[in-house]
Amino acid sequence: MNPTEELEETYGAPAFKKFPLTIVRGKGSVVWDAEGKEYIDFMTGIGVALVGHSNDAVVETIRAQADRLITCHGSFYNDSRAGFMERLVKVSPRGLTKALLTNSGTESVEAAIKLARRHTARKKIISMKGGFHGKTYGALSATWNKKYREPFGPLLEGFEFAEYGDAESLSQLVDGDTAAVLAEPIQGESGIIVPPQDYFRQVREVCDQRGALLILDEIQSGLGRTGKMWASEHWGVVPDIMTVSKGLGGGLPIGAAVSTAEVAGSLKGGEHTSTFAGNPLSCAAGSATLDFITKNDLPSRAKEKGEKMKAGLSKIASSHKLAKEVRGLGLMLALQTRVDIHSQLLSAEAKGVIFAYSGRDTFRFLPALVIEESQISKGLEVLDGVIGEEEAGRF
Ligand SMILES: Cc1ncc(COP(=O)(O)O)c(C=O)c1O
Repeated sequence: MNPTEELEETYGAPAFKKFPLTIVRGKGSVVWDAEGKEYIDFMTGIGVALVGHSNDAVVETIRAQADRLITCHGSFYNDSRAGFMERLVKVSPRGLTKALLTNSGTESVEAAIKLARRHTARKKIISMKGGFHGKTYGALSATWNKKYREPFGPLLEGFEFAEYGDAESLSQLVDGDTAAVLAEPIQGESGIIVPPQDYFRQVREVCDQRGALLILDEIQSGLGRTGKMWASEHWGVVPDIMTVSKGLGGGLPIGAAVSTAEVAGSLKGGEHTSTFAGNPLSCAAGSATLDFITKNDLPSRAKEKGEKMKAGLSKIASSHKLAKEVRGLGLMLALQTRVDIHSQLLSAEAKGVIFAYSGRDTFRFLPALVIEESQISKGLEVLDGVIGEEEAGRF
């Protein structure tokens, strides 16, 4: 263990399962460890470094804003916050005109749940089997995986789960007491699961027929990652509330629940606030990030590079018995295997490439949308190698 690892182990609560790697610097799609070794990053803090690590425009903006004003409570007006909310609403799906700012993904989901219950005066929230929305109590109550839920009960009342991708299963659960249906347009944590093409149109119909709101969680799939600004655009569906976070602050913590004016207007002043929400520093970083995404048309770049990367993954999958399936859209991709991939992740790290995982058997790829083709090629080469090594050890 190096001194940093020793200090974290000594003084940190053991909340995270750790990889034996200390990252001290990052630029674009590359991060460096304490010894100066470089790694191509396909994990990006699980999708956070969407515009690249320490993006120049974001860094410059943070510097200037830090010099001017870092904190400003939401009970005052602030220019940085105002500019950010305008930008966010302008890139949001049509009709979503009000941003409720938060500091993380899970808080954005909390805000969405509260907005839905407040607006409809109903209690039930229907989310999806396999869905992941965060680990605070509201979001956790809507999260499927037992391993996150069971040690912490009782969770909130009124939460039920439908089969993801099956509108009939949803239809059986949504009734006159359903405040909202909450779903990821593409499930991230459970392995990049893309639903059938007409699924979300049917989900929208079920919600409209029964007077329930539709909350789409774009925290992992949004901001251009799947080849469109919002993954919901692939299905031509507009939600009533959309949650955003991860890459939104260029690496700084920020999130939002963006909704229609009617839904947002059901909250009375003071009913849902938070000390840091809308702080000028994160908002400035958010504006620089959104400007960078739109000016460089990152959704198109994600589509183009994602198609090439997916083709590369499919080629690898077809040449290895251990590989099972390639899934995803844009640069939100996965390769599912038939084995535990932990040792393959460590082996890739040793070769200078960081991959994320979903469950035990699936490689998850959430690279920066600015990743270069040569870096994708290097990543694929290493992936091919580590799967090959694992296979050689087994057969
Ligand atoms: C779809 C989705 N929703 C919510 C969250 C929770 O976000 P956070 O970890 O910022 O609380 C995540 C995090 O991975 C996510 O992928």
